[in-house]
Amino acid sequence: MTPSSSFPVALRSLTPDFAPGSVWLVGAGPGDPGLLTLHAINALAAADAVVYDALVDKRVLGLARPDAQLEFAGKRGGKPSPQQADITRRLIALAREGRRVLRLKGGDPFVFGRGGEEALALVEAGIPFRVIPGVTAGLGGLASALIPATTRGTNQAVVLATGHAAAGSEEDLDWSALARLRQPLILYMAVANLPRIAGALMAGGADPTTQVAIVASATLPSEQILETTLGGAAAALAEAGIEAPSIVAIGSIVGLRAQLTARTAAGAP
Ligand SMILES: C[S@@+](CC[C@H](N)C(=O)[O-])C[C@H]1O[C@@H](n2cnc3c(N)ncnc32)[C@H](O)[C@@H]1O
Repeated sequence: MTPSSSFPVALRSLTPDFAPGSVWLVGAGPGDPGLLTLHAINALAAADAVVYDALVDKRVLGLARPDAQLEFAGKRGGKPSPQQADITRRLIALAREGRRVLRLKGGDPFVFGRGGEEALALVEAGIPFRVIPGVTAGLGGLASALIPATTRGTNQAVVLATGHAAAGSEEDLDWSALARLRQPLILYMAVANLPRIAGALMAGGADPTTQVAIVASATLPSEQILETTLGGAAAALAEAGIEAPSIVAIGSIVGLRAQLTARTAAGAP
């Protein structure tokens, strides 16, 4: 089987060659396989080995070459994730065996995805690599839930941030400073800490009526959207039992969803 035989001929000339002995760090988008890039589909059709993360949808993996070696490198059933150093060692070893190595990550590999660290390790090891951007959950996942990241009428900036740091840890953000920006926040990995984050934003001056949307499993058939406010977020979350992976949007952009949903329901183009 030739490496790209399942890839439409007319599209092959649009994508670069996946050379043996190289690694492609590829974003798989938030879940819906329709959001893959042409380069990602090409890479799946050509790769000898696919090293993938937990959030990569099974239907995306189904596009890999039938004889490709699939290796899971994510968190499984509450067990600790493989160490980052082990993953990069594995990528380097596979490439040195002369394989075309596809490192497949949810969303975009360079947005809260450790793609930067992996690229640096490949540079250090002298392994040729390419980065294929993907649709990041914080932008594409929200867009598909009808929450625009920006509009001229609502915001001049938007902050992408992680909410996973423990309270008071060195990695935790200055939520008061973010509240003072008065611009929307888009938070990754924030659901577990949302009650605390909402409290910290309000303590920093954010209005408790500020709109919040939690979009779980964005773009997937299991997608759930919870709309609430900063003041009501803790209770709403406890009642709804929303689970990760979720993106949290906070601010004026959330309000646009109601208008857009009403129009969609009315059958407007
Ligand atoms: C380790 S980060 C990876 C982010 C990824 N690189 C990206 O660009 O979207 C994992 C977090 O991304 C968010 N996420 C990823 N896929 C998602 C989805 N389909 N729906 C909602 N949130 C998602 C969640 O906040 C999740 O906890």
